Amino acid sequence: MTPPISVATAAVAALALSAVDLAGQPDRPRPDQQVILITGATSGLGREVAIRLAAGGAHVIVHGRDSARAAEVVTEIASTGKGSARFYTADFASNAEVRRFAEAVLRDYPRLNVLVNNAGVALNPPDRSPTEQGVEYRMQVNYLSGVLLTRLLLPRLLASTPARIVNVSSLSASPIDFADVQMTKNFSPMRAYGQSKLAQVMFTFDLAAELAGKGITVNALHPATLMPTKMVKEAGLPVRSTIDDGAKALLRLILDPNVGHGGFFDSMNPAKAHAQAYDPEARAKLKKLSDELIARF
Ligand SMILES: NC(=O)c1ccc[n+]([C@@H]2O[C@H](COP(=O)([O-])OP(=O)(O)OC[C@H]3O[C@@H](n4cnc5c(N)ncnc54)[C@H](OP(=O)(O)O)[C@@H]3O)[C@@H](O)[C@H]2O)c1
Repeated sequence: MTPPISVATAAVAALALSAVDLAGQPDRPRPDQQVILITGATSGLGREVAIRLAAGGAHVIVHGRDSARAAEVVTEIASTGKGSARFYTADFASNAEVRRFAEAVLRDYPRLNVLVNNAGVALNPPDRSPTEQGVEYRMQVNYLSGVLLTRLLLPRLLASTPARIVNVSSLSASPIDFADVQMTKNFSPMRAYGQSKLAQVMFTFDLAAELAGKGITVNALHPATLMPTKMVKEAGLPVRSTIDDGAKALLRLILDPNVGHGGFFDSMNPAKAHAQAYDPEARAKLKKLSDELIARF
């Protein structure tokens, strides 16, 4: 992981990431700004929502891996928005990188109002590509790293209430096969994606119960179906909606005071998740397994 890139230093930072000095940078959030962390904000839905939130005055912590595309996002925010942004890299295939990312955020931000767990991959890579923790790639990038990041940042969110956590999931849900969660048999990238996305919803329901009455609103959503983003284009899937559709749905869960707590939404509407998400025994199994996997690094 590399240090954050400020708006002012974005172009230089692409060349010399480790040389960036944040002290006194003008992009520190003002006291009146909402501080919003969006994972996977270098592309697609996360990028769009980061730019719109900053245009509304927020300070956005832009996360991703691609420094060049990240620099474009912070530069666009600087040129068009009333808000501000900084970029932090972390590869979510690594627990160690997630931990370093969280440490950097805790170091740099005394306040965090919203965490949006949005980073994700779909059908690429086409195989299991187990991570250094031995976890199937989608399960780690889409689900486990978001859980770890949330757990590490939770004290800061609790100190910044009213706060929100939004998990960007999908209607593409496949039940978790607890006999072979890592999919060593009969692997399919679509099923792996669906498993990771359902795991996010199960985590949302548990976390919402845990945080009830503590000033943090927790929800999950399917933003829109087959938006023309990088993951959909890479998979060669037919486009069925716009990034604007997904952005409006996600922005509502971030900003609307009347969205409730502990819900799953299909775009703008409350929706029923896969039945396994309502099975307390399955959720308990998933939580135990997740805690064990997170503890590996
Ligand atoms: N597109 C759809 O129709 C659709 C439908 C339902 C749900 N969703 C969900 O919406 C979310 C956003 O997806 P999108 O459609 O906007 O896709 P996208 O354009 O491919 O964006 C994915 C984002 O995730 C980041 N990311 C990918 N792998 C990563 C890794 N190993 N470590 C850290 N960051 C990583 C990418 O950052 P870098 O490129 O910088 O690595 C990028 O910013 C995902 O959770 C997806 O499952 C999308």
